[in-house]
Parts: sequence; structure tokens; C-alpha cells
Amino acid sequence: MTDTPFSATLPDDVPEAIRAMKRQLRDQIGDVQALFDEVSAFITSEIEDIEARKARGEPVWPVIDYADIEAGRVTDEEIRLLHRRGCAVIKGHFPAETARNWDRQLVDYVERNDFDNQYCGPGDDFFGTLAASRPEIYPIYWSPPQMEARQSERMAAVQVFLNRLWKHESNGQTWFDPTQNCIYPDRIRRRPPGTTSKGLGAHTDSGALERWLLPAYQKVFRHLYNGDFSQYDPWDAAYRTEVNEYAGGTTLCSSFRTFQGWTALSDMKHDQGVLFTIPIPAAMAYILLRPLLDDVPEDELCGVSPRRVLPVSEQWHPLLMRGKTTIPDVVAGDSVWWHCDVIHGVDPVEDQQGWGNVMYIPASPWCEKNVQYARQCKERFERGESPDDFPAEHYETEWEGRFRSSDLNTNGIRSFGI
Ligand SMILES: [Fe+2]
Repeated sequence: MTDTPFSATLPDDVPEAIRAMKRQLRDQIGDVQALFDEVSAFITSEIEDIEARKARGEPVWPVIDYADIEAGRVTDEEIRLLHRRGCAVIKGHFPAETARNWDRQLVDYVERNDFDNQYCGPGDDFFGTLAASRPEIYPIYWSPPQMEARQSERMAAVQVFLNRLWKHESNGQTWFDPTQNCIYPDRIRRRPPGTTSKGLGAHTDSGALERWLLPAYQKVFRHLYNGDFSQYDPWDAAYRTEVNEYAGGTTLCSSFRTFQGWTALSDMKHDQGVLFTIPIPAAMAYILLRPLLDDVPEDELCGVSPRRVLPVSEQWHPLLMRGKTTIPDVVAGDSVWWHCDVIHGVDPVEDQQGWGNVMYIPASPWCEKNVQYARQCKERFERGESPDDFPAEHYETEWEGRFRSSDLNTNGIRSFGI
């Protein structure tokens, strides 16, 4: 009897853990090639649907008016497409004028606090190759615009709508409360006109190596890892809230996010280096099974390495790359959302036309794990420090005009896990 290859902490010998994991999963699955072929056939049919929609000039992603969410008027067809594609654009999530005002306020906030002279360069190695006197990603968390957006009724309405797409009760347990949200303070991006950028390659967040080696992810993906793709449901939250990524990386996320998302603070055209996704939530099945095939070295996982995002590439995932779809044009105040397993990246751009400004605000529903992190964030908020999932840059501690406790509304107070 050998030890289990799965571990809640980063194994000392990662290559050996990968070899042992592959042996065990192949035993569990049986005919890996047959399972992979079944998954590939499903992905192929989804990609054909994506290609057909593009050929007909239809949106690949559901584009939903905020007013329809607020009034409970989203159609069953839109919900079906959202489940199928795992992504959505919400039009008019905030009035365009509100979002443009927020953008101006953010500029005032960093300028009056002399950020240009304080900035010491990127604090992490994730976006670190983008050299600039001002960063593209600002390590700013507690500005009034960010907090106003996070605690707004409009944000709560969209987050609850998105949380409800998940099966939050299963296996006799309630995994989260879709009607309440926790704060997940993240950064802002401001990319000026004229930018030339290589973009960001296709990847998924919320764990890389972990998706094969963490006991909790073994439970999340139990049907796949037991060879039964028909039972696998990317929208079943079972065990997702028990996932704790390996410590030590700079891209860690301590919360379970039903969706990642951002809110546009400027108008952005689809061909100006914006977000793309591979809008198929079950593509994760392909990513997980691909390294178990014989042409991948026994101690490798198609380019996965500890403490990095999970890369998706032409080399290992050509079928998936065929599904690459860029978001449509958005205007300030629209928001964009994608399921936490969905592959995404940023297109390259040369001499960008217009600004490319967003606030990252995901949907982080109420559960023990998220409440615990939100409470840690409360202390950071009060001191104006960077949240624990991000580099300890703490630029805002002495800044004027920071959002204060006394500015919190009921949503804002509750979002800190109170
Ligand atoms: Fe990402």
C-alpha cells in the first residue's frame, strides 16, 4: 500500500507526486484514451456551435441588460446560453456617466497621493514583464470608486444572479449562500492610448498543480477522475469551498469565486487588446485529462509549474484554442464575467486606440472560507493595507481620500463577513 499522491500542501518532490498521481488516476479511470475521446467529442460540438454563431453574426456570449437582471426578466434561453458558455457581458451594469466619473476619481486619488513618485515597480512576478513608469495594474484597493462599486445594490444584484447559476446545495450539503456576498478586494487596470502590449496568454486561475494534487480538487473533479464524464457538472459547487491553494505564490486566491469579473471604466473596442475566453466551462475536463495521455512526460502536466497560473497552449490544447472568442465592444459601466474554470487571457494590441480601464470585482458568495478571508480584509481595509492575497505593497496606508469605515453601507459592512 503506497501513500496517497494527493496533498493539502505543496509536495517536496513535485515530479514524484505527479508520477504517483498519474498512476492512481489511470487505475481509477481505466481507458483514459476513451474518456479523453469522449470529452474531445463534446468540446468539438461546442466549438462547432461557437463557430456557427460567429458565422451567423450572433453573439457567442450572452449579452444581458442590467435592467433585465434587476427586473427578473432574463429569459430561460439566456440562462441556458450562460450555462453553456460560462461567460456573460452585462450591459449598463452601471450608468456610463457613473463609471466615467469613477475613472476620473481614481486618477485624482492616485495623483493627489503622489503615486507616480511612490511607485516602486511591480510587486509580483505575474504582470512583472510590463515595464512602465506607471503600472498597467495599479496595486490600489481602497479608493472610493472601488468601494462604492463593490457595495452597490447594482453589484449585489448581478453577483446574486450569477451565484444562483451554480448548484449551491448538493451531496446533502449547502456549499454557499448565493444571496449574500463577501468582499474580494482586487486591483484596477488603467491602460493608456498608444499602448503596445503582448497581452496575456490563455490560462485558468484558482489553482494549477492543485487541480490534480489537492485532495479537495480530487473531490470536485471526482466524476472525471473516476472516468464518468456524463456525471461531471462544472456548476456543482460540491467541495469547491474546501479548496485551499498552495501557499507561497503571488497569484493565490483565498476565496471561492463563482465568477471572476471586471467592470469597465472606459469604452473598449473588441480589437484593442481586450479579454478573450474559451467559453466552454467543461473544457477543464480536457485540461485535466490531457497530461494523462502517453505523449506527455510522466512527471509533467503540459506546462504546469508550482505557483504559476495554469497555461493553455497550441502545443497541448489545439482543440481548445479553436474556441478562442474575444469579448464584444463594451462601454464604460458594462461588466464582464467568466466562470472560475473558464480559460481566458488578454489579446495583444499595437498602438491601442482609447483607454482600457477596468476595476476587478468578482462574485465571492457567502461561505465559511470566503467569510474568513473577508474578515482578514476588514483589518487591511481599516489600515489601508494591501489584502493578503496580493503583494504587501501597502501604498494606501497614509493616503488622503481613502474610503472609510463610516462610508460603508449595509452591503459593505456585511461583505466583510460581519
Ligand atoms: Fe486570470
